[in-house]
Amino acid sequence: MEIVSSVNELREKIMTWKKQGRKTGFVPTMGYLHEGHLSLVRESKRRSGVTVVSIFVNPKQFGPAEDYKVYPRDLERDRALLQREGVDLIFYPPVEVMYPEGYKTYVEVEDLQDRLCGKSRPGHFRGVCTVVLKLFNLVQPDEAYFGWKDAQQVIILRKMVEDLNLPVKIVPLPLVRDHDGLALSSRNTYLSPDERRAALVLKKSLDLAERLILDGEKDAHKVREKMIELIAAEPLARIDYVEVVNLNNLEPVEKLEGEALIALAVIIGRTRLIDNLRITSGGIEK
Ligand code: PAF
Repeated sequence: MEIVSSVNELREKIMTWKKQGRKTGFVPTMGYLHEGHLSLVRESKRRSGVTVVSIFVNPKQFGPAEDYKVYPRDLERDRALLQREGVDLIFYPPVEVMYPEGYKTYVEVEDLQDRLCGKSRPGHFRGVCTVVLKLFNLVQPDEAYFGWKDAQQVIILRKMVEDLNLPVKIVPLPLVRDHDGLALSSRNTYLSPDERRAALVLKKSLDLAERLILDGEKDAHKVREKMIELIAAEPLARIDYVEVVNLNNLEPVEKLEGEALIALAVIIGRTRLIDNLRITSGGIEK
């Protein structure tokens, strides 16, 4: 496994593999890897001839008051994990390589970027789309793997790929949870033991939603209200949003019929956590 940091080195490797006709799987990450990331890597390994992982904490997707500077980073640990998984190449660019002095080009997926997390994190998805499009241009993957944990990100990136006719398939994979049900996130490391216990309220609220829906509740408003009531009873939790939306356009839904996404963001102490449940023709996934 090689680590490259420059565009030229990356392009050289990619060109060699393209000439050999090998299918490229790509897992973009911000590092500090956990089992969620590794599940994406394993799927890429299963489906592709070569697997490329990028590790880049993208400054453009953090707001000025957000955690860019303190976001957890540990290249040595990430490198060992990826080596063990048999990854072919890590792309680990410095900020100046991705955004040289005078950088001016951005990608926006209108409307979808302003909903849910976009309301409290303005500019976040503009940063995500910009970096992901740049990475797609550099890596030229056949398939790129993302976790459903970031459901809005998946939906927005799928739209970007469709609208810009990008020759890459977005492959979303199930969210991975810790033994106690907390959705895995690199940000879980910020939680104190008390906060970590309190953070389980996100999953508990989704469990409640699932029970209500399986018992026949169709009124999205009622499901949402019950979830809010449960979360509000947790003293360390502050709700950013709890929404029941259409799984494709993220518009609020009133009746739970067909596909839907129940998404929430809750601030525990100083850490903002997200989680979700998807209702699809295959059933409820969370
Ligand atoms: O999901 C993430 O870790 C990031 O948003 C991504 C896709 C790597 C872009 O920086």
